[in-house]
Amino acid sequence: MNNLRNQSNPKINLVSGMRPTGKLHLGHYLGVLQNWVDLQKSQKYNCYFMLADWHSLTTKYEDTGLIGKSIIEITRDFLACGLDPDESTIYIQSHVPEIAELHLLLSMITPNNWAERDPTLKDLVRASNQDETNLTYGMLGYPILQTSDILIFKGSAVPVGKDQTAHLEISREIARRFNYIFKKEFFADPKPLFTETPLIMGIDGTKMGKSFNNDIKISATEEETINSVKKMITDPQRIKRTDAGNTEECKVPFPYYKIFADADTCKTVKFECETAKRGCIDCKKQLADLINAKFAIIRAKRQNFSDAEIIEILKAGSRKARQKAQDNLKQIRAIMKLNYFDKV
Ligand code: TRP
Ligand code: SF4
Repeated sequence: MNNLRNQSNPKINLVSGMRPTGKLHLGHYLGVLQNWVDLQKSQKYNCYFMLADWHSLTTKYEDTGLIGKSIIEITRDFLACGLDPDESTIYIQSHVPEIAELHLLLSMITPNNWAERDPTLKDLVRASNQDETNLTYGMLGYPILQTSDILIFKGSAVPVGKDQTAHLEISREIARRFNYIFKKEFFADPKPLFTETPLIMGIDGTKMGKSFNNDIKISATEEETINSVKKMITDPQRIKRTDAGNTEECKVPFPYYKIFADADTCKTVKFECETAKRGCIDCKKQLADLINAKFAIIRAKRQNFSDAEIIEILKAGSRKARQKAQDNLKQIRAIMKLNYFDKV
């Protein structure tokens, strides 16, 4: 049944990845994970989801101690949120060394200035301990490594955030250049799959980020969630409990209600806030309850997997990914006429 369908309507290869640099937060859940799970469920794709440990070295090459633990915790989040190793290939980038060989091969045909022009690179450099005049070769190669991640599986669908647009543009150019130079339509255009997800702010009202200490982790306890919500910035004009609030000016809690509560609840909150019927303390209690309810099942599921089981899942996923990568790389070497001593 499955085979029949695959023959008449082959699935599209979908590749995406995450850098293992810490635990995932609600922003990752809303912006990335939910989407990955939906794409997996759609049955339209061969999904490859990768822990991009080499990519985390581009900025954190001195600080490798936490990568292993982070790989396990992020995979635990993946599994608890609904990624299924029987449906999707979940693997570790460095366990598929064919990606590194392809990176080297593609680097030969990639003009330097394609990488240098990438504006995402400038953002990455700014966020790391490097400066633009003192870039590492690995950092400059970030988009070419990412291209190899995608093309090693002949990926053509790449679910990413808007911040990855420039990287993906380079991937497309490299794929086309390869096909042009070696006169074979081998790689399909890797296309981004953007999602329209609400941007979620950190508890201090700025962009949520694991390095800003303003996030709420998927794996947080109920207590930790309550404490984070308590610290959220509200309407700065509202000083006394008897002051009427303004939900438009409420920096963090009200935007969260819009994400986590239904329309009726939002209406009630707005009315009660703007008539001083509810205070911010109670309002935050209710919000923390909503978040805790939303993540209760996921958090419980996180407990179902031991570290050892997760490592097994990753090893099996990496073996499966590697097999496909080896097949494809063999074809790539042949197309580039590098198979000097192979029988044709
Ligand atoms: N650069 C991506 C990010 O920071 C992660 C990533 C690595 C990726 N390799 C990839 C995304 C391949 C899509 C495809 O989010
Ligand atoms: Fe924001 Fe709620 Fe306070 Fe109103 S009552 S300002 S919505 S936290």
